[in-house]
Amino acid sequence: MFHILVLHGPNLNLLGVREPDVYGSCTLASINAAMEKLAQELTVQVESKQSNLEGELVTWIQEARGRFDGLVINPAAYTHTSIAIRDAISAVALPTVEVHLSNVYGRETFRQQSFIAGVALGQIAGFGVNSYVLAIRALIEHLQTSMHS
Ligand code: DQA
Repeated sequence: MFHILVLHGPNLNLLGVREPDVYGSCTLASINAAMEKLAQELTVQVESKQSNLEGELVTWIQEARGRFDGLVINPAAYTHTSIAIRDAISAVALPTVEVHLSNVYGRETFRQQSFIAGVALGQIAGFGVNSYVLAIRALIEHLQTSMHS
């Protein structure tokens, strides 16, 4: 059974009250519940964690080595600033999908640069909660394909 770690970055604990016109009305708990439902359907295990701290996210990525098969991460604002998170993903070499609720490419120019995308398998942005669901599906398909090749 595949084990997937889902990391949510800063301010995502405020989903539901935070800029609902941009991020929608669903809470982090409801996103985690949607992923849990999908995990049961696909017979995989998903563990979700959120942190507002860059170093804590780096530590969790490091600790995922050997314990998880892949990573789904919404680095939130750290997407646009964090070489440390990028380096941690490179270091552990876990297949990683970058997720955003909003379409960052239709927003301010500072959101249009990702330090993470270059070390990720791919990026899914703009589909709200469904961005996470699509990311899990893409990651599982990738893991299944690489297992058989
Ligand atoms: C976000 C987009 C980021 O630019 C922003 O800083 C966030 C959320 C998203 O999910 O759309 O906090 O990652």
